[in-house]
Order: sequence, then C-alpha cells, then structure tokens
Amino acid sequence: MQNVQLIDHPLTKHSLTILRDKNTDTETFRRHTAIVSQIIIMEASRTCKLNVKQIETPVASMQGYEIYRSLIFVPVLRAGISMLVPARDFLPWTSVGFIGLERDEETAIAHEYYQKFPEHIEKKLIMVLDPMLATGGSVSDTIFRLKEKGAKRIAIACIVAAPEGIKRINKEHPDVKIYTTAIDDHLNDKKYIVPGLGDFGDRYFGT
Ligand code: PRP
Ligand code: URA
Repeated sequence: MQNVQLIDHPLTKHSLTILRDKNTDTETFRRHTAIVSQIIIMEASRTCKLNVKQIETPVASMQGYEIYRSLIFVPVLRAGISMLVPARDFLPWTSVGFIGLERDEETAIAHEYYQKFPEHIEKKLIMVLDPMLATGGSVSDTIFRLKEKGAKRIAIACIVAAPEGIKRINKEHPDVKIYTTAIDDHLNDKKYIVPGLGDFGDRYFGT
C-alpha cells in the first residue's frame, strides 16, 4: 500500500469508536461524522497554497495569510454528502462538483446519470469525499470521470478504508493520495468493510 496517509489522532479514535458502535443513534452519528471529516480535511488541505495578506490588528499592521482558493470538493453520492457539509463549514468558499454514478449490478459498469462541475477543474486540487473506501470501485470510477474532464490533481478523503480499496486506487490511480482515519482488516463476502461500521449512508441518513 502506498500514497495513503493514516490520520491517527485521539479525537478521531474517540469519534470513530462512536461511529463504529452499532448502538449509536443517527444524531450522534452525524455529529461525530462532522468531527472526523473536519480533522481529515484539515490534514488533507495541508498542501493548500497561501496568499500573503497585509492586515491591521487593533494594535499594529502585520503580514497575514489567506488560503488561495484552489480547492474543489466532489462528494460521492450519497454518503459523501455527509462529509461535504462539515468540510464546507471549514472552507465555505470551496466550490463543489457533483457526479452521479450508478453501477450495473451485473456488468459492474458505471453509468453516469448526473454531472455538474465548477470551471477550471484542471487548475484545482479536487478532493473526492466518500466515507467508505471498500472495493474502491465507486471512488475509482469517479476519479476516471474527473480525469476525463481534465482534472490533474486529485486526493481522496475517507473515514474508513479497506486494504482492498487502497490497493485498487494505488493500481488504477497511482497519482492519487488517500487520507483516511482508519485502515481496517478486510472485506467480507458482501463487500462490507470488517470491522467497519456497517452501511454508512443508511446510518447517516437514518434509512
Ligand atoms: C457506499 C459508500 C461508498 C461505497 C463504497 O455507498 O458510501 O460510496 O459504498 O463501496 P466501494 O468502495 O466498494 O465502491 P453505497 O453504494 O452503499 O451508496 P450510498 O452512498 O447511497 O449509501
Ligand atoms: N459501503 C458502506 O457503507 N459500508 C461498507 O462497509 C462498505 C461499503
């Protein structure tokens, strides 16, 4: 496994344990999804460039910084929306691109039913948001579509990753870095992450 950064922090360990617990209710699940997502975004945005900005404090003038607006979030529908809201609370000016893919259960070929992107994606860092990287199929298909549309710098922010998903991304997209708060053990025969946290979308949206 390469190009993967495990974000190992007491706060993520605490929140992840709550997310994994099958007795956690929807409201608590949402709260801890937001905490973990913001910590991931904080780490994944470490490479963002800064513009120098001259400001006046109440006491003196000084040189400060502002983030160069060069980021686009792309949530993988549906569960990626859960990370988009806290990510944009952090970086409210960030543009958002949407790509809706549905996989044919038999052929596993992804059909695109929706797409809307901000301009100049070729110049921006695209952060793909998906809480679960299981087989890696959903994220990999999304990245192929983004590359077709000109994206050049892409990273993945996820909460739990399986080794199988990381290996697939490494193979199909060796240029893409993965940020995750957990690398779990394996996938079961239903392609769920073990130990994982179950179906993220269902638990987040209460379905
Ligand atoms: C989940 C999850 C990922 C995908 C991961 O979505 O949110 O997008 O599975 O699995 P993969 O790595 O094997 O592709 P799901 O298909 O359950 O849809 P949902 O977001 O609507 O819940
Ligand atoms: N999608 C989920 O929501 N959970 C898994 O464990 C795998 C895919």
